[in-house]
Amino acid sequence: MKRRRFLQALLTALGLTAVGSFVYPVVRFLGPPGGKAALKQITFKKSEIPVGEAKDVALDATPAMIINRPGKGLIALSRVCTHLGCLVDYNKAQNRIICPCHGALFDLDGGVVSGPPPKSLPRLPLKVEGETIVLG
Ligand code: FES
Repeated sequence: MKRRRFLQALLTALGLTAVGSFVYPVVRFLGPPGGKAALKQITFKKSEIPVGEAKDVALDATPAMIINRPGKGLIALSRVCTHLGCLVDYNKAQNRIICPCHGALFDLDGGVVSGPPPKSLPRLPLKVEGETIVLG
């Protein structure tokens, strides 16, 4: 009798495992996609970025910069050039963002002024809450 129960329990466990191995992928396929986790937020004091200055930061894995544009306020842009992915730099003297690889120029809104990049630098979410800058 004990042997019979053991075999029944073993067959039940094997059966449940077999059913589970078919059902689980179907449930995963039909369920909502497990997208990326929300971007984390980074905060700075407004006083860290005076007018006309910029600060390089990293938002998750994205190199970014926050620029305090004279007369236009703060903006956060990706530093990854839309041409071949070099890191761009803010140039205060020229009032432009420059890609060192192929000499592209971007305006302080991230728009392409000259050079080979096919599109603007992506803008990143930024808001100002009192004296705090929240990026992400
Ligand atoms: S990678 Fe920036 S201009 Fe080519």
